[in-house]
Amino acid sequence: MRAGIAERAASRAGAGAGPAEGQAYVQRFTRWQVVQHAVLMVSFTGLALTGIPQKYAQLAISRWLIEAMGGIDRVREVHHVLAYVLLGLGLVHALEMAARATRYGLRSQMWPGVQDARDLLQQLRYFMGLEHEEPRFGRYSFKEKFEYWAVVWGTAVMGLTGLILLYPEVATRYLPGVVVPAARAAHGGEAVLAVVAILIWHMYNAHLRAEVFPMDPVIFTGRMPRERALREHPLELEPPGRASAQTSATGASVTSPGRGGGPSTP
Ligand code: HEM
Repeated sequence: MRAGIAERAASRAGAGAGPAEGQAYVQRFTRWQVVQHAVLMVSFTGLALTGIPQKYAQLAISRWLIEAMGGIDRVREVHHVLAYVLLGLGLVHALEMAARATRYGLRSQMWPGVQDARDLLQQLRYFMGLEHEEPRFGRYSFKEKFEYWAVVWGTAVMGLTGLILLYPEVATRYLPGVVVPAARAAHGGEAVLAVVAILIWHMYNAHLRAEVFPMDPVIFTGRMPRERALREHPLELEPPGRASAQTSATGASVTSPGRGGGPSTP
């Protein structure tokens, strides 16, 4: 497919929350990416709901929540099961990325680059009235890349510190004992940071900003109205000649924009 992101007519896209008759959509995410996001969303929410009340166990609302969820033993069990779900998802994603890197090389549209720094500066200058135009983005804007990498390092930190808390006797066989309270402090602190970032940064950018309020269904349907894709990711949809068609490592057929591109990987 030559177009930047695969275009689909509404009639092909089906009913329900889908597009209005005759309106063109682009395929932004593959079904597998939609599934990964859903697993991440459910496991993270469950981990936050079962973890945060443990951190603030002295609060009445935490004690009420823990009782409502079946008591502290049940809450810890659920936390451990969901932790394995999240760790499994992280592992599968890492293996998939490694396989893609072997096949397509290390270039990826998700790597941050100099252009992202330029876009950030232009965005800030625009907000301050020093620039007339907002930056134009390709498949992923600097904000989207930042969120993706925040999830990657956040999951790595939570996973590593969480495993130390799960298996303290194994950890202290190789590391000094102080690593356990240190892991607890880092795990709890990073959990609060992650929850606040999701509630404020992610919710605003993904659902609450004026352009998509009250919610953006794209990560659940995989499809984005073409008119919106042209506004938010114009460089991905540039006509052939200005951009070269590539086979997407995401599984979708995408165009790698002239800048910041390379064989496209997520
Ligand atoms: C990624 C894998 C994770 C693992 C292996 C893990 C494991 C653990 C373990 C073993 C504990 C000690 C209490 C208990 O036994 O249940 C714990 C506590 C906790 N977890 Fe997780 N967890 C993970 C992810 C998360 C996530 C994503 C969040 C929140 C967004 C979270 C929030 C918390 C909090 C707030 C505590 C209490 C810390 C404290 O007492 O200061 N965890 N976790």
